[in-house]
Amino acid sequence: MLETLNPQPQDKILALIAMFRDDPRDGKIDLGVGVYKDATGLTPVMRAVKAAEKQLWEAEKTKTYTGLAGEPAYNAAMVGMILGAGYADRAASVATPGGTGAIRQALELIKMSAPGAMVWLSNPTWPNHPSIIKYLGMPMAEYRYFDAATRGVDFAGLLEDLGRVKAGDAVLLHGCCHNPTGANLTLAQWEQVVDLLAAKGAVPFVDLAYQGFGDGLEQDAAATRLIAGKFPEVLIAASCSKNFGIYRERTGILIALTSPERKAVVQGNLNFLNRQNYSFPPDHGARLVTMILEDDALRADWKAELEEVRLNMLSLRQELAAELRKATNSDRFDFVATHRGMFSRLGLTEAQVNTLRETHGIYMVGDSRINIAGLNAKTVPILAAAIASVAG
Ligand code: LMR
Repeated sequence: MLETLNPQPQDKILALIAMFRDDPRDGKIDLGVGVYKDATGLTPVMRAVKAAEKQLWEAEKTKTYTGLAGEPAYNAAMVGMILGAGYADRAASVATPGGTGAIRQALELIKMSAPGAMVWLSNPTWPNHPSIIKYLGMPMAEYRYFDAATRGVDFAGLLEDLGRVKAGDAVLLHGCCHNPTGANLTLAQWEQVVDLLAAKGAVPFVDLAYQGFGDGLEQDAAATRLIAGKFPEVLIAASCSKNFGIYRERTGILIALTSPERKAVVQGNLNFLNRQNYSFPPDHGARLVTMILEDDALRADWKAELEEVRLNMLSLRQELAAELRKATNSDRFDFVATHRGMFSRLGLTEAQVNTLRETHGIYMVGDSRINIAGLNAKTVPILAAAIASVAG
């Protein structure tokens, strides 16, 4: 049986981890996978997470199964963090193994309820989106998103392409901090997109993996909240990997907004999908998140540290844009300072990306996506000089 298997292509983001590890050069710089790193290169366990873990270790009496949909307190806390108050009667939800688990469950839910529904993806998008959709054999289409000339959003192209969406199609939208580009819609542009998609009868499917990494915890939820208030049905796949720094704990949630009358049936289908795919979702990370969100002191400390993380990335952006101005004697990389989130797509060619890796030991994804958090005060000028030498 297994002899029929063909080798799988390597995941382009994850492949960089091994390539970087195996590079013996001193001074190599990792701007690949989307993991937050402090100035020393460490991905720290957040203070509130450590404190919650300590409390949990002391108080936890059992590790018996949690609920099939996760602990209700986790789901309620996450719905509150993402959407604010007022959604209890519309929000069906399941805890999932990370944001990827939520995306997978959402796609399976779409496939179950509307086989043949088109899933629209931004071009470009996180490569795992099309990969999972292809694996599930679902139809997909792309809408223009990135303007290669300005490195901003191609808003006219986006509107034109989304103008072709049909009623019942699912449209995957990055709620904030677009991955891989770092280019984001303004709230006024979101309003236009919402009006267009509502008129079309589309089902928004929001991927919210970086809440708190862009303009702030509340600000980064603004587009999702706008969408939630306008559409009868919305799918939201959210991750706690980045904003709680609990990557390996696999902590995510899928929220399906529906009518109060349909909620029980939708919830039952979400539970069913969890049961088919992995039975019970992981609990450790979800429990830490719940403890943090429910406790005033832990929550305040977590928010303060998340804000430090966000502001650190923002100042790295500003420093990099300034260094690139000097190094290239031009303003053509100023977009780095206006992008938000972990990533910026620099707009370099694949050959330039390869030269940066081979000659300079600087690792970024092949589409020239950099993880801003991979930088520090020392490496910013090194990167700027290297970019200038390949693209100056
Ligand atoms: C990324 O885009 O680098 C992260 O979301 C990590 C991943 O799983 O790809």
